[in-house]
Amino acid sequence: MASPGSSHLHPALRPLPAASASVVPRQVDYLRLSVTDRCNERCLYCLPESYAAWTDKAELLSWDEFLTVVRAAVRRGFRHFRVTGGEPLIREGVVEFIGRLVATPGVETVQLTTNGTRLPQLAPALRKAGLERINISLDALDPEAYRHITRGEVAPVLEGIALCRQLGFPSIKLNTVLMRGKNEGEIDNLVAFAAANDVALRFIELMPVSLTEMLDESNFLPVGEVFRRLAERDELVPLEVGKPPGHGPAKYYRMKKTGLTLGFIGALTDLHFCDHCNKVRLTSDGKLRPCLGNHLEIDLRAALRSGAPEADIAAALDRLFLQTLADKPLEHLFRNNYQPSRVMTAIGG
Ligand code: GTP
Ligand code: 5AD
Ligand code: SF4
Repeated sequence: MASPGSSHLHPALRPLPAASASVVPRQVDYLRLSVTDRCNERCLYCLPESYAAWTDKAELLSWDEFLTVVRAAVRRGFRHFRVTGGEPLIREGVVEFIGRLVATPGVETVQLTTNGTRLPQLAPALRKAGLERINISLDALDPEAYRHITRGEVAPVLEGIALCRQLGFPSIKLNTVLMRGKNEGEIDNLVAFAAANDVALRFIELMPVSLTEMLDESNFLPVGEVFRRLAERDELVPLEVGKPPGHGPAKYYRMKKTGLTLGFIGALTDLHFCDHCNKVRLTSDGKLRPCLGNHLEIDLRAALRSGAPEADIAAALDRLFLQTLADKPLEHLFRNNYQPSRVMTAIGG
């Protein structure tokens, strides 16, 4: 009988060995808050270089509006919150917001996903505000390769990572989006860097979630290929099931020799990727997106700005969350020629 790793499957589709993934199937308790669609970088897979169709300030949710949504989410069973963007650290007031989020009753974990460029300025204040968990994008270590991919500079990001370690953030994870031919040659250096700095490293498959030409099959590098390449050098031991170092979809392993924690986010090649999906996204203009790879959006902003009494707004938000959970698709449409209607930063990375 065919085993899960059967050789009749195309190599890209062969599953990774069993590993620690997140939580109970489809218990949706994780809300990602995109606090701005703006960014100070232009990653090849995310934003077209000339992109400038930013959302007007007046259309963005205010910090108070975000917190009203968070309280509604807590009432509907959400416990884990991630602040993301665009680049969240370029929106004024974000540090204070994170402090208020950490202090909100019912909020168990608050995390941040950032490109890291502003960490040299903001990491100490973020730690002081109570932030413990931080994911930092790092697609290359070589300055030239990093510049090519992001149109930015790697030095402040590396400085930011060092500072976060000094400040004792209990969880630091690096995110690398895999691109054939673009950062394939950086993989070994990134593994060595993460091991030397005692931070986790995750490899993410390129997803068709933005409006850029990079999102072409020829640039696609499956996580399974990288897994097998690394496994030739060192044993990759699945982390204990039920105790993943995050709340997202990554599958985790420990490299035996170095002790490095490695995560793989195989959104395209893992045919069971969505089975455990536990999250909903909130766009910076107040729409709930039950799935990254689906056009469905549920507007919260109209309710937030209706002028109704607070209790009525709370009741309306409760209903909208229920609707979002009921409408959550079983899986993304990425393998069905999905064409996004907005750039990734407007949806929330
Ligand atoms: P933790 O595991 O708690 O660290 O969270 P996370 O992995 O969800 O956080 P992060 O923002 O670092 O996510 C990394 C990347 O994984 C995202 O930017 C996406 O590219 C991808 N990703 C996360 N969640 C989903 C999802 O639901 N669907 C898809 N297709 N991709 C996702
Ligand atoms: N494919 C995969 N991941 C992407 N991200 C943005 N665009 C894409 C894409 N097309 C993710 C990266 C980045 C985070 C903010 O969003 O992981 O680190
Ligand atoms: Fe900015 Fe992150 Fe998109 Fe890169 S991936 S352009 S850093 S939001």
